[in-house]
Amino acid sequence: MRIIVLDNDTDFEGWRRAARRLALNDVKPAEVTWTIRRDDELSSASCMNELPDVPQAQFNVPAKFVELAKAAILHRNDERFALLYRLLWRLRSHHDLLSATDDPDVAEVHAMARAVYCDIDRMHAHLRFREIGRERAAHYVAWFEPEHRIVELAAPFFAGRFADMPWSILTPDVSAHWDGHAISITPGVAKSEVPSEDRLEEAWRRHDIGLFNPARLKVMEMPQAYWRNLPEDSIIKPLIEDAMRMTSGPFIARKAAEPRKPQDPPMARKQTQNAQARDTISALRDEAADCRACPLWKDATQTVFGEGPQSATLMLVGEQPGDKEDLAGHPFVGPAGQMLDRALEDAGIDRGKVYITNAVKHFKFVPRGKVRLHQKPNTPEIRACRQWYERELAAIKPELVVALGATAAQSVLGKITPINKNRGQLIDHDGTKVLVTVHPSYLLRLPHEKAKALEYQRFIDDLKIAADQLRNSARAA
Ligand code: URA
Repeated sequence: MRIIVLDNDTDFEGWRRAARRLALNDVKPAEVTWTIRRDDELSSASCMNELPDVPQAQFNVPAKFVELAKAAILHRNDERFALLYRLLWRLRSHHDLLSATDDPDVAEVHAMARAVYCDIDRMHAHLRFREIGRERAAHYVAWFEPEHRIVELAAPFFAGRFADMPWSILTPDVSAHWDGHAISITPGVAKSEVPSEDRLEEAWRRHDIGLFNPARLKVMEMPQAYWRNLPEDSIIKPLIEDAMRMTSGPFIARKAAEPRKPQDPPMARKQTQNAQARDTISALRDEAADCRACPLWKDATQTVFGEGPQSATLMLVGEQPGDKEDLAGHPFVGPAGQMLDRALEDAGIDRGKVYITNAVKHFKFVPRGKVRLHQKPNTPEIRACRQWYERELAAIKPELVVALGATAAQSVLGKITPINKNRGQLIDHDGTKVLVTVHPSYLLRLPHEKAKALEYQRFIDDLKIAADQLRNSARAA
């Protein structure tokens, strides 16, 4: 008897490799037992399948069989691996077997594949995301209990449909996460923890470690058997450590440096401090027009650099240009800009006297038909662009920097900074006074008029702190 140990419940590639070798060596279906590697087999040599070498002989199966097998393997039927091998075995001598719909094996595999496809349709139609978190850090979370193991196959649909929003789908088998770039898979949420509406947020918080950092990709590279069924702590702790190491250490510095070209800003940054102090905004703008420090320049229309008087005492930092700004080449001229204009006026701040810029100077988006959907910049992009903010800061020397939203706060303060915990306070950062508040587009997204009015007033209150600060320092001068 041959015991074939597959890496996990949906290990189609493992099954295919093993089945091919077995069939080529004439190992009869009745002589094979299929199992899944369990955690305690991780380091055991006995779990390695000692399959016979593949002889030169070849055989082909219809493409339709591969398609059916890929779907059927996601079915919860414990006999699926054996059934599929039996079919493969029989296909060697009966190439048209799949059209024999009255054959019990054929009927069963078709029924299993159909059940899987129905389950995927059900997930696509019924899954509902709920917004968790606030403002720019908002994340969308859904709980779903699929009948079969379909999450990995069903998830790309949601990445396409909701490309612009970071989401997580929690299920008992595995959880899928989308950060705007890639889908990653982490362990499922145990049934006993099934979150009610109230507990969804709590469940997500427990599982979101590393959602926006490179450590998450390590999870994808690990065989699922390594983390499946592990107690949460044992996987989450190393992830936190990895996340911190990767987002603060040389890893990011190296990443950010990779795409740079010889004439681009990093070379310019080798200028002395004195030279930096001599930068004028217009010289910086010219230099930034050719910035290649991250890949965002490729799809954007142009670099949208900061604008405003070089003598400004107040500097506002947003996230990145939007669709309108990308086309116009000026910051904050679209809907968020109009909201900002109104708020500045209500707070008694003259926009004409303010220097306005963004943490990231190129528009990041995904095309959806005729529309370009805004994408939140990631940490390497924010870091790659920070040199421009630093040089704008050195050129303007404002009395106060106001960071609008989470991306701006991350760039200005050099670390991820929760807005609600820090808003409205004057923070001293490397000798620069910083105030963090929400991004105006947060106000635009609020669905209810009452919340909108309330949050708008809080935004004005924050901007008034900036206005007061500037008035006081002008008086003291
Ligand atoms: N949002 C930003 O953060 N900046 C802009 O320039 C426009 C919208």
